[in-house]
Amino acid sequence: MNKKLNKIVFYSAMALFVGRGSNMLAQQSRSEIALEKKVDSVLALMTLKEKIGQLNQYNGSWDVTGVPSDIDNKTKLEKLKNGEVGSMLNVLTAEATRDAQRLVMEHSRLKIPLIFGYDVIHGYKTMFPIPLGESASWDLDAMKKSAEIAAKEAAASGLHWTFAPMLDVSRDARWGRIMEGSGEDPYLASVIGVARIQGFQGNDLSNPFTIAACAKHFAGYGFAEAGRDYNTVNIGEHELHNAILPPFKAASKAGVATFMNAFNDVDGVPATASTYLQRKLLKEQWGFDGFVVSDWGSIAELIPHGVAKDKLQAANIAIHAGSDMDMEGRVYEASLKTLVDNNSVDIALIDDAVKRVLRVKFRLGLFDDPYRYSNTKREKEQVLTKEHLGIARDVAKKSIVLLKNESNMLPLKKKLNSIAVIGPLANDKDTPIGNWRAQGEKNSAVSVLEGIKEAIDGKTKINYAKGAELSIGARSFLQPLTINTTDTSGFDEAVAAAKQSEVVVMVLGEDAFQSGEGRSQSQIGFAGVQQDLLEAVYAVNKNMVLVLMNGRPMEITWAAAHVPSILEVWQLGSEHGHAVADVLFGDYNPSGKLPVSFPRAVGQEPFYYNHKNTGRPFANGEVTFSHHNDVDNSALFPFGFGLSYTTFKYSDITLSASKFKTGEHITASVAITNTGKVKGREVVQLYVRDLVGSLARPVKELKGFELVDLNPGETKTVSFNITPEQLQYYTANKKWETEPGIFHVFIGSDATVKTFKPLEFVND
Ligand code: NOJ
Repeated sequence: MNKKLNKIVFYSAMALFVGRGSNMLAQQSRSEIALEKKVDSVLALMTLKEKIGQLNQYNGSWDVTGVPSDIDNKTKLEKLKNGEVGSMLNVLTAEATRDAQRLVMEHSRLKIPLIFGYDVIHGYKTMFPIPLGESASWDLDAMKKSAEIAAKEAAASGLHWTFAPMLDVSRDARWGRIMEGSGEDPYLASVIGVARIQGFQGNDLSNPFTIAACAKHFAGYGFAEAGRDYNTVNIGEHELHNAILPPFKAASKAGVATFMNAFNDVDGVPATASTYLQRKLLKEQWGFDGFVVSDWGSIAELIPHGVAKDKLQAANIAIHAGSDMDMEGRVYEASLKTLVDNNSVDIALIDDAVKRVLRVKFRLGLFDDPYRYSNTKREKEQVLTKEHLGIARDVAKKSIVLLKNESNMLPLKKKLNSIAVIGPLANDKDTPIGNWRAQGEKNSAVSVLEGIKEAIDGKTKINYAKGAELSIGARSFLQPLTINTTDTSGFDEAVAAAKQSEVVVMVLGEDAFQSGEGRSQSQIGFAGVQQDLLEAVYAVNKNMVLVLMNGRPMEITWAAAHVPSILEVWQLGSEHGHAVADVLFGDYNPSGKLPVSFPRAVGQEPFYYNHKNTGRPFANGEVTFSHHNDVDNSALFPFGFGLSYTTFKYSDITLSASKFKTGEHITASVAITNTGKVKGREVVQLYVRDLVGSLARPVKELKGFELVDLNPGETKTVSFNITPEQLQYYTANKKWETEPGIFHVFIGSDATVKTFKPLEFVND
């Protein structure tokens, strides 16, 4: 074995210990050693063909019980029976997973159970808000709970593993998959990612109500150039470490079972081919001992990337780089044996990858009972329950962000004489389910119109008009979306409805399939004829609330300047309309805060609050400073922003000391008072600016937040602990370290907070 391989094997073994933290309990380490023995004992029995099989993942959207009609599926069946498949994705229902598992358990030589994966992104059948929307709650407990319910339902349907959470930080609203993450901030993405992992995995993967999580896409996918999905990523090493990797590092530390690599290249190196990311960083430095699955076909895509001339070379590069499992790429199954036979790939490399897969299977308890998840009775009882819908409504209402509320127009009275509910999305029961909807049924959400009808006084007249169609024709994951750009025939009815009503609730935004994978856009305003509809209705009734449903920050400059009240409601899942009505009528006082900045114009993208100052920060209208001629540099609605039906007053910041050094910490406190008339929740945010560093530092960075519930007139003190570790970054020394100097400490209600206290970190 060569030196490099020796190192790989050594690090894998070490990962079991280091990866779980240095304070690992003795009991845990004993069980890890026992686990390793079991893994080794299985490995010792395996032929090379069987080993390669464990690294092979097939798509399973086919009827495993019936006789497959095409050759491809026949081959798949035979391979399953021969133990040449380690995992399947998209095999759905307890019955189908049981049938597929049975093929392996009854026919294969070693009976190594399959692991079934699926994209359970924001719910399995009970749908929760899309991840970006849910992140606007900043409520880690609520997000953990929604992941826990999603896991419970998925597990009840025979699944072991979700390809979530997506941890890609994204600063570009054009990128369709921004809906699937937690926005633009690496700290927020880290804590939300960990909460979701804890929700999916619980404390024990062998508990049949939990499933394995997957930290994806490792790494850089959210920084695609021009926000165009799958596009190349060009960022420097420091930015990679400071802006992109923190959520992945946090996930690894939190014990996420698996990682998925990414489609994109970073500076010319496809993530799937990156030894630096997968081996050096993830497996060696971070001590990750689970496995890395490729993204769909991403090993084969090393060929079109132009770094491999054929499948053989692609497999060679990927296995050396640390991609353990080949998702539907058919490259490992076609090439690894040849590569071992011709000595291009050392068997130790294959063994390491196989052990990683087996470890996760053991942790899931699959060797104890390969069918433990596939139970039709449980599936019937534990999916889409009333209790789950109640939890979905709770998370949904907490995810809504009040962007504007001129003259306190909201909340609306339940005893209005008349209310117009207008817009292509007003009675849409499908868009709230969002993209990446797993088994969320088409048209199964409560629409805004339905929610309003249930909430109001029976005597209020509702004047509903669709006004226009947003999209025409088919709407599904793979079909391109056709937007209605011409048909205004419904405008008259909408205008008439508005004229007859006291208040207009205008429901506009994006179709469910305008965001998600492959759904990037060059424009982020209202698609189709929506802007015209909005202006036509506004012309006859200005007493308007705009309810925005969307999967990305949108360009809503006109609406922000004219419409008195705006609610950002995203796509909230099954209970969408109920949650919207809860907020519209004041049964819930909105508490959400934006996890992404809303730009004034799409040309500002990528747009994010934690940018560098540049050598020429724009201040006094001078021409030769960093700005656009035609738009203000500031956000239309900044990161962290969200109003409430009450108001909050912040006191000055108190620091427990103005200087500190290694081993010490500082407490930063403020008193918050509810100065309005109703109970409310404020998300108190801590930001820091590192004034002088070995590298240019962001103008502000989120370092912590607290959710505070306050009754009218009530004051609470919120304190944050600041440690030297929190002030670390990946410096010019290519190390995570805290550099001495002055930091500004800000506490406030969004990223534009101005008041700060200086704090000095000194070398000992
Ligand atoms: C491709 C996507 O990029 C990834 O996120 C997903 O998990 C896989 N397809 C499987 O559906």
